[in-house]
Amino acid sequence: MKIGIIGGSGLDDPNILENPSDLEVDTPYGAPNSTLRQGKIGGKDVVLLARHGRSHTATPTNVNYRANIHALRMVGCAAVLSTTAVGSLRAEIGRGDLVILDQFIDFTRRRALTFHDRFEPHNPAHTPMADPFSEPLRELLVAACRKFGYRHHDKGTVVTIEGPRFSTRAESNMFRAWGADVINMSVATECALAVEAGLPYAAVAMSTDYDCWKTDEPPVSWDEIVTIFKENAEKVTSVLIEVVGKM
Ligand code: ADE
Repeated sequence: MKIGIIGGSGLDDPNILENPSDLEVDTPYGAPNSTLRQGKIGGKDVVLLARHGRSHTATPTNVNYRANIHALRMVGCAAVLSTTAVGSLRAEIGRGDLVILDQFIDFTRRRALTFHDRFEPHNPAHTPMADPFSEPLRELLVAACRKFGYRHHDKGTVVTIEGPRFSTRAESNMFRAWGADVINMSVATECALAVEAGLPYAAVAMSTDYDCWKTDEPPVSWDEIVTIFKENAEKVTSVLIEVVGKM
């Protein structure tokens, strides 16, 4: 089984593959945001893709989510694991905690969010999305967090915003009232497209900040996200390596 891994902010270029080699591909949706890097983890075939590009040049709106998912499927990936930095909307989700997402709320506004731009005659494609994250993959991610003793949350609803700006305090409070646990700018789009493409998808999210609802501390900044992610990146890579070994 070949496994795709999409690296988010802070993991644009992780050094986790044995015998890495780069592969340029093109798709009907254009080029993916990075060359694919293929190699092995514990004998398993893995393909890495940097969501925002290896030098992080694609904004959340301009990430070519369709090309990224299509490219991974084209080269034979049968499942996708992804990583993402998230802001916490709950006091109990602390900085550096891992959250194994199980639901999303899509609050994006202007990006290509489906492979079905047109329906075939008499064949509308309305993809079920009730439980978008793969339960077997989620279970493997949770088991890996438990094995390493990392602070983690077995479930979590992510709200994905358009970005690149952060939320206002009113928006942050609204997302909390809606039941969202964490916030980011990419996962809902990527997950929905993976489901449409028939690829089991799961994400390990790292909480890097408290967004801006928590008034007893300064609102989130990009520098804070990068610092916390770097300090904790090894947790995410060790979880990924463990899970790939079990797939
Ligand atoms: N990614 C990490 N922290 C975030 C936040 N507070 N809002 C949106 N995306 C984020």
